[in-house]
Amino acid sequence: MDETAAHTLADAVAALKAGRLVLMPTETVYGLAADASNARAVAKVYEAKGRPSFNPLIAHVADLAAAQKVARFDDRARALAERFWPGPLTLVLPAADTQAVCDLARAGLDTVAVRAPGHPVAKALLEAFGGPVVAPSANRSGRPSPTTFADALEETGTAAAAALDGGPCEIGLESTVVALLDQPRLLRPGAVTRAEIEAVVGPLAEAEADAKRSPGRLTRHYAPNSPVRLDAPSPRRGEAWLSFGPGGRGRWNLSPTGDLSEAAANLFAYLRAADRTEPVAIAIAPIPDEGLGEAINDRLRRAAGFVG
Ligand code: TXA
Ligand code: MG
Repeated sequence: MDETAAHTLADAVAALKAGRLVLMPTETVYGLAADASNARAVAKVYEAKGRPSFNPLIAHVADLAAAQKVARFDDRARALAERFWPGPLTLVLPAADTQAVCDLARAGLDTVAVRAPGHPVAKALLEAFGGPVVAPSANRSGRPSPTTFADALEETGTAAAAALDGGPCEIGLESTVVALLDQPRLLRPGAVTRAEIEAVVGPLAEAEADAKRSPGRLTRHYAPNSPVRLDAPSPRRGEAWLSFGPGGRGRWNLSPTGDLSEAAANLFAYLRAADRTEPVAIAIAPIPDEGLGEAINDRLRRAAGFVG
């Protein structure tokens, strides 16, 4: 791909139809997109990411009607979709049509993860393409998710036949993943908080109790090259410092006002920027664990290489 050029929507649709890959902006992070029904195209996604093929992908759809063609919705799933779509929520449901989202995309599971993203460029692409599109975060496996067009190009741009510039991602953290197979389960915390989900479907069971259902939760994930030190009240000599809140000093204050949404939006871009200075370690200030803080701390524990 020509590294400097952003492509048009028509270029992107043509690329998907030809079984090629597209960099797609979403409100959470940039995705590396492929036609979900085309196993050869899906294989290229795994290859470009260097991703273990047992880790299934999310099928992105234009809306609930499109989602109902690929997954079986019960009342709880419908209620969540109606409340939070389009937006940063992924639902893991029984697969309905096993052709529309091929076996390789589901990593052979009889379930499927579906999400209707809210970013206008993603919506336009999904509507114009007219079928489900798999899109893992556009990073190479184990690296932080790209939240800007430039970072997406740097990660997997060479594998993409077209790249759509949607500006910096508003949310900056991957979608919340909830499984509705037996009792509702939080598989990955994200921008839609636990409390917001529980307000619709009641108490959520823990993901750890059902690790098989959540193959993507590898221990070391979202990792920069430098070691990461968490809950650091201040930096040590040679460390890069990601601070948080009014007292935070230095170049990378995740949110000077202590706002968790702002911190989430800055997180991956600051991790990357700090990493580029090749510090002894990246020290990160304590982040409160409430609301969106649960998702931020989940990603930070993974960046540091702790079991999640
Ligand atoms: O915000 C997002 O969700 C971004 C943007 C691009 O939409 N995408 C994303 O995809 O984060 P990915 O592939 O990096 O993460 C998908 C997560 C993984 O943890 C995967 O294991 C889980 O969803 N997942 C996918 N299908 C599943 C299934 N059938 N059962 C359980 N977990 C599943
Ligand atoms: Mg990812």
